[in-house]
Amino acid sequence: MSKVIVTGGTGYIGSHVAVDLINKGFEVIIIDDLSNSEISVLDGIEKITGTKPFFEKIDLCDKEATRIVFEKYSDIQGAIHFAASKAVGESVEQPIKYYKNNLQSLLNMIELMIEYKIDNFIFSSSCTVYGQPDILPVTEESPIKIAESPYGNTKQIGEEILTDQTKAPGNQMKFVCLRYFNPIGAHPTALIGEKPSGIPANLIPYITKTVKGELEQLTVFGDDYDTRDGTPIRDYIHVCDISSAHVLAFERLLNNANTENLEIYNLGSGEGHTVLEIINAFESSTGEKVNYKIGPRRAGDVIATYANNDKAKTQLGWKLKYTLQDMTRSAWAWEQKMSQAN
Ligand code: WQD
Repeated sequence: MSKVIVTGGTGYIGSHVAVDLINKGFEVIIIDDLSNSEISVLDGIEKITGTKPFFEKIDLCDKEATRIVFEKYSDIQGAIHFAASKAVGESVEQPIKYYKNNLQSLLNMIELMIEYKIDNFIFSSSCTVYGQPDILPVTEESPIKIAESPYGNTKQIGEEILTDQTKAPGNQMKFVCLRYFNPIGAHPTALIGEKPSGIPANLIPYITKTVKGELEQLTVFGDDYDTRDGTPIRDYIHVCDISSAHVLAFERLLNNANTENLEIYNLGSGEGHTVLEIINAFESSTGEKVNYKIGPRRAGDVIATYANNDKAKTQLGWKLKYTLQDMTRSAWAWEQKMSQAN
């Protein structure tokens, strides 16, 4: 049976993709160092699919340790690479950690894939590469802006590494780069979801932990932006919609249906929502009240961004299934399930 390496597969998006790959009949090998996730995620994947993925606790920055996976498993058809540090604020405080971890792990994976002649590679990127777009919605041809953070820069450099590899003489690698907008929500079973360590930086986990009472109050970072209600606009997309696009992209590579050796897709809902609209959607979909106040702007925040997702819809055959209400309702259901587990 075809095996797929999923690096960072006990993480938020990686675990949802592992579920979808298993449900599509693939055998999944998760490589994760568990630095920002828990091994109990494997139980959630097994409960949903009936199958426990292979798991290797390895630091991908250690190439010879990573090689063990390529020696141990046969019939590996490709890799989906999620493993990376991803906290924007932390990356500003610890840039070297971010460049080392995010780039060394990527380079090791690509080198080993080339050595073991495994051609299919999907790279987890981010809309952060666009910075503050000049024109909305953002297409894949929209200009790349100077990164606002070392985290965002590691994604830009990662994409450049893929680009340069495709230009190398004799290149056999086939890459798909997926630029996520704002993934939120959790699997409908509430058996896997987002589990940020410490105080969450992102909006949705901050909301759910405030409603749960774990955090006192949400601060809305600024309401004096040039938007319809003064709060910033983002493209929020259900993590399960993000996940389904990965399986479609992987099958496209497996079937050699790709038209270029590096294909780039925006994974966004195509709709922009303000922070206050998200709060309203959360309250209407859950019946819960969000305790928030308006505070100062957060450095590095862009005013507005949302995707043109036509390319993924036409070339991948991607169909979005979930609404904004599904996103916020599933995020709350997951938060409640986590409370029961603790
Ligand atoms: C969303 C909106 C905040 C928290 C980042 C990364 C991106 C991706 C997703 C990894 C903004 C506002 C937030 C809070 C708030 N990460 N907000 N109070 O910054 O759009 O994207 O996370 O791939 O690469 O850049 O997401 O959820 O942090 O913020 O008002 O306590 O919510 O100002 O407008 P962001 P976010």
